Amino acid sequence: MKTVEDFDFSGKRVLLRVDFNVTLDEEGNVSDDSRIMAALPTIRHILEHRPRQLIIMSHLGDPEGPETRFSMDKVSERLIQLLGKSVYKTKDAVVQRMPGEGLVLLENLRFHKEEKADDEEFAKKLASYADVYVNDAFGVCHRKHASVHAITKFLPSCAGLLIKKELENLDIDRMPKPIFAILGGGKLGTKIPLIQRLLVNTDKVIVGGGMIFTFYKAQKYEIGESVVDKSYLKNAEVMCHNEKLYLPEDVVVADCESKTEVRTVAAGSIPKKSVGLDIGAKSVKQIKKMLKGARTVLWNGPLGYYEKPPFDKATREIANFIAGLDCNKVVGGGDTADIIHKMELEGKYSFISSGGGAALEVLSGNALPALEALEINVGAKAEVKGAQGK
Ligand code: 3PG
Repeated sequence: MKTVEDFDFSGKRVLLRVDFNVTLDEEGNVSDDSRIMAALPTIRHILEHRPRQLIIMSHLGDPEGPETRFSMDKVSERLIQLLGKSVYKTKDAVVQRMPGEGLVLLENLRFHKEEKADDEEFAKKLASYADVYVNDAFGVCHRKHASVHAITKFLPSCAGLLIKKELENLDIDRMPKPIFAILGGGKLGTKIPLIQRLLVNTDKVIVGGGMIFTFYKAQKYEIGESVVDKSYLKNAEVMCHNEKLYLPEDVVVADCESKTEVRTVAAGSIPKKSVGLDIGAKSVKQIKKMLKGARTVLWNGPLGYYEKPPFDKATREIANFIAGLDCNKVVGGGDTADIIHKMELEGKYSFISSGGGAALEVLSGNALPALEALEINVGAKAEVKGAQGK
């Protein structure tokens, strides 16, 4: 895979795809700029190599068409603050006349349905703005979208520094051993390939979050009204026999209706009218004990219903505990990354992925379509008519 380090940008028009799909607060301001920060090394690298122009593009949210609340305006403001340079934000991603030079940020790509459709004409239009294409949008690389996939057919293409860093840090083979994985989150279905792979390639797989109830059910435990992924009961049953798998021994439950009567019960005895919402204190203690032996802790997914205190307790305790460990500490993006940022613990972790779904795919050992496109099409030079008639 070619990266920005292999390209000469001097005097060139460079089109850079980033993942500025940031979290916004109720007023529409950027509340977590970590994804913008993550793209800065590539932006600075390109600018240091004196391009004629740098055009940055991203999606924000998942709008069906143009929607003011998903405009890149606020992102542009934050980018200006972080870079200390002026940035020209276009009114639309489809631009009739591109300014001749300087730093440009295109309006939200997803205001055009062609983006998600991997439309070649749309990709060709974007490609027409530049001489070289750089993809540093790691969080979008599991998508086959025009700005990360089809576009590689029309310009010499390479990956940015963030993508390089993500692939290095999420490579299980490069992680110091023993590796202890902690997996949480609600949907077992999306995590099965990952759990299966980690059961082979790591030393312990600790499971928490909503998916534990499918494992309990597979073992014929009483789970009350807790949510079960019925289609994966068989997979769960098989995985339960693997000695590397650790399932919490106690859970925090709440009364189904009031959600207020909160207590901790043994894993096998969840009362009929209760729902499990977090893992219990005994399990947290046991997990901490196990983690002390790790040279790498790999964490993906919250351990309970963390959006609603007090069911965030185990997740927070484990987040703090891992932060204090002296080992390689890798977070697989998504919700877990949000939690670490909100708890302001990022400085204490070795690596926090900027991608949710993309990180999950890499850790599961799957190829990412946008990265395959980069490798296959590097150097492709299909004819493109420039936006400025060039
Ligand atoms: C993400 O937030 O994981 C990426 O920006 C991709 O966004 P998407 O899930 O809306 O495609």
